[in-house]
Amino acid sequence: MLAIEISRPGAADVLQAVDRPMPQLQPDEVLIKVEAAGVNRPDLMQRLGKYPPPPGASDLPGLEVAGTVAEASPGGRWRTGDRVCALISGGGYAEYCAAPARQCLPVPTGMDAATAAAIPETYFTVWTNLFDRGRLRASERVLIHGGTSGIGSTAIQLARAFGATAYATAGTDEKCEACRRLGAVEAINHRASDFVEEIRRLTNHEGVDVVLDIIGGDYLPRNLACLRMNGRLVQVGLIGGSKANLDLRGIMQNRLTLTGSVLRPRSVAEKGAIADAVEQNIWPLLEAGAVSPVVHATFPLREAAAAHRALESGEVVGKVVLTV
Ligand SMILES: NC(=O)c1ccc[n+]([C@@H]2O[C@H](COP(=O)([O-])OP(=O)(O)OC[C@H]3O[C@@H](n4cnc5c(N)ncnc54)[C@H](OP(=O)(O)O)[C@@H]3O)[C@@H](O)[C@H]2O)c1
Repeated sequence: MLAIEISRPGAADVLQAVDRPMPQLQPDEVLIKVEAAGVNRPDLMQRLGKYPPPPGASDLPGLEVAGTVAEASPGGRWRTGDRVCALISGGGYAEYCAAPARQCLPVPTGMDAATAAAIPETYFTVWTNLFDRGRLRASERVLIHGGTSGIGSTAIQLARAFGATAYATAGTDEKCEACRRLGAVEAINHRASDFVEEIRRLTNHEGVDVVLDIIGGDYLPRNLACLRMNGRLVQVGLIGGSKANLDLRGIMQNRLTLTGSVLRPRSVAEKGAIADAVEQNIWPLLEAGAVSPVVHATFPLREAAAAHRALESGEVVGKVVLTV
C-alpha cells in the first residue's frame, strides 16, 4: 500500500511516499480503507523527532482517519463496508490502517470523509479535557487559547453548544473574527493586547471558570490570573514551553485546580471509554449539524509535505486533511 513515512527527523520534505506492507490486525482491531486522514500539530512534532510514537504504535504519522471497514472480526460492532472515523495511535497517512474497534465511530449521516477524518483527535481531546477534567458547565465562562487551532476551533463550538460562554485568543484580527464566527463571544488578538487585562475587562473583573491552554510556559501564571474562585486550568499543549515560575498563593486563595492530560499514550480501554462518551454526548450535535469540524484545506496523501507546510504557516483556521 501507499504510505507516507518520516524518512528522518526534519523539515516537511522528510515526509516520503513509500510502499509498505498492509497493517497486521491485532485482536479487536478493524482494517480501514482510508479515504481521508486528519493532520494535527502532534504530527509535526513527531516529524521533528520530538514526539515519538508510543510502544506498539505504527511509526507512520497520522492520529485519525475516516474511511470504510475493509476487514472486521465476526461478532463485533463493525461490518465490512461500514463508514467509520477512528482515533488511532499512528499510521493514518496510508491507504489502509488498523484501528481498535472501540476507537471507531460511525461517520455522521451525510458527512464527507474529509470532514469526518477531522473529528476524532480534537473532539476526543476536547471532551476529555474541557468537559471531563475541566468540568465545564452550561452558563460558565471559558477562555480558549489558539481559538483557530484544530483544538481551539473544536473547543469554541462545543463550549457554545453546551451553553458555556467562550472567549478565545488568536494571533491576528482575521483569526479573531474567525473565532467569533465559530461561536466565541469575544476574541483577543494576543499580539495586540494583554489577554489577562482583556479577560478582566470583558468579565467585569470576575474572570473565567475554565482556561483551556495549548501554550504553557509563561502563560501559566497569566492563565491562573484569568480564573475566578474555584477556576480550573486545563493544560493540553506546550507550544510555549514546559517550564514556568509560579507563586502558589493564588491557587490557595482562589481554590484553583491545575490539570491536564495527553490522549495518545492512553490504553484502548481508556480511549474506548472516551469514544463512548463522545458518541453519547457529541454525536447528536454532529448529526444535527450544530457543531462540525472546520476543514481549512485538503491535500492528496502524496502531498503530505505541503499539508504540513500549510499547518506550519500559521494561517490555518481549523484543520488540514489528507485525502486518498
Ligand atoms: N493533550 C492532548 O491529548 C493533545 C491532543 C491533540 C493536540 N494537542 C496539542 O494541542 C496543541 C494544538 O494542536 P492543533 O493540532 O490544534 O494545532 P494547530 O491547529 O496547528 O494550531 C496551533 C495554534 O497555536 C497557536 N500558536 C501560538 N503560538 C504558536 C507558536 N509559537 N507556534 C505555532 N503555533 C502557535 C496558533 O495560533 P495563533 O498564532 O493564532 O495564536 C495556532 O492556531 C498542540 O500543542 C498539540 O500538541 C494535545
